Amino acid sequence: MNKMLNRRGFLKQAGAVIAAGSLPLSLVEVAFGKDEPANFTFAYISDSHITHIKGREFVRNWDRGLIRAVAEANLLDPRPDFIFYGGDIAQLGKPEELDHGLEILAGLRGDVHYVMGEHDYYLDLGEHWKKRLGPDHYSFDHKGVHFVVLNSILTYDDWTHNKWPTAAERMHQMARLDNPQGSPFLVGDAQREWLKQDLAKVGKDTPIVVFSHSPIQKIHKGWNFWTDDAEQVQDLLKPFDKVTVIYGHVHQIQYNQIGNISFHSAMATAWPWPYPSTYRQVETYLPKLTVEMNRANPFFERDATGWQFINLHTGNVDMNYLLPDNTNRVVAFDTTAGRPVDTRYQAVANRIPPQNHY
Ligand SMILES: [Fe+2]
Ligand SMILES: [Fe+2]
Repeated sequence: MNKMLNRRGFLKQAGAVIAAGSLPLSLVEVAFGKDEPANFTFAYISDSHITHIKGREFVRNWDRGLIRAVAEANLLDPRPDFIFYGGDIAQLGKPEELDHGLEILAGLRGDVHYVMGEHDYYLDLGEHWKKRLGPDHYSFDHKGVHFVVLNSILTYDDWTHNKWPTAAERMHQMARLDNPQGSPFLVGDAQREWLKQDLAKVGKDTPIVVFSHSPIQKIHKGWNFWTDDAEQVQDLLKPFDKVTVIYGHVHQIQYNQIGNISFHSAMATAWPWPYPSTYRQVETYLPKLTVEMNRANPFFERDATGWQFINLHTGNVDMNYLLPDNTNRVVAFDTTAGRPVDTRYQAVANRIPPQNHY
C-alpha cells in the first residue's frame, strides 16, 4: 500500500481487503499520541473458545474462526503495531485448549498482548495461562497512549475456593448461562489498588485505553455481561480526559458512554451470542445507545462473527465492524454529542428490518 495514503484512504483500502474475506478480527488505528503524534494501528481478535474433543481433536469450527483471523491479520498493510487478544482462548480452560489456541496464534506476525477470559481461568485459576503468557494485569505505553490490561473475570473468594468439589465442576458452573449457582465477575480490591497506583503516574490529558474481558459496566447479570465492581473501576478512570474500555466476552456489538468513558465490545471468532434484550424473563440493561446487530442467517456458520477496525484518532475510538459478506458498520465517537454513534443506523428512521444484514 502506498505509504502516502491518508487514514481515510487506508481504511478504505483495508476495508476492501477485509470485505474480500469473512474474518473475525479487528484493527485499531491510534492517532492521538501527545508527545509524538503519529498514527498507528493494532488488530484485535477475541473469544475463540478452542474446544478439545480428545487427543489432537478439537472442534473444527472454532479452530477455523481463529485460523482465519490470524491469516488475515498477517495480510494487513500497513502492519498493525501489535495485536490484542481479548480473552476466552479456551472453552473449558484445559491446557490442551490453551496450547492449541496459542499454537494457532503463534502464526501471528508481531507482538501480541492478552487479557484473561473466564473460560481460560476457572479450571486451574489461570495457572497454565500465566505460565504461557505472564501476568494477568499490566500496563504499557505506546506512542503517547497509556494501555491498561485488567483481569475482570475474578469473582468472590468463597465461590472460587469453597463451593465446588472439583476444579472441573467450578469451570463448568462458570461456563453456564442463567446459572443460579453462578457468581458475578469482579476486578477485585487488589487490582483496583494496583490500577490506582498505575494511573497515579499518568497525566490527566493522556488518552487511556483499558482492555478487559467482561464489560466494566452492568448489562445482564445472568450471562455475566456484568462486572460487580464496575462503578469502582469507573471512578478510578473518571479524572482522565479521554478513556476508552474495549472488551470481549459478549460476542456481539455493544457501545455505550458513561461520563468520560466510552465502551466498545468486539465480536468473537467463535460464535455470536443473542442480545440480552431478546431475553425477556429478567431485567437487562443493554445500553439504549446500542443499535443491535441483525442476524438473518442462522445457517451461515460465521454469521454475526466478524472483524473490527478501531480508530483512536483525537483520543476517541471509532469501531469499524466488518461483518462476513456484509458492508461495514462504523460506530464512531461523535464529538458534538460526546458519545459513540452508529454512523449509518443510529437514527431510528435509518434502521433496517432484521431480515437484512447490516
Ligand atoms: Fe467468550
Ligand atoms: Fe468470556
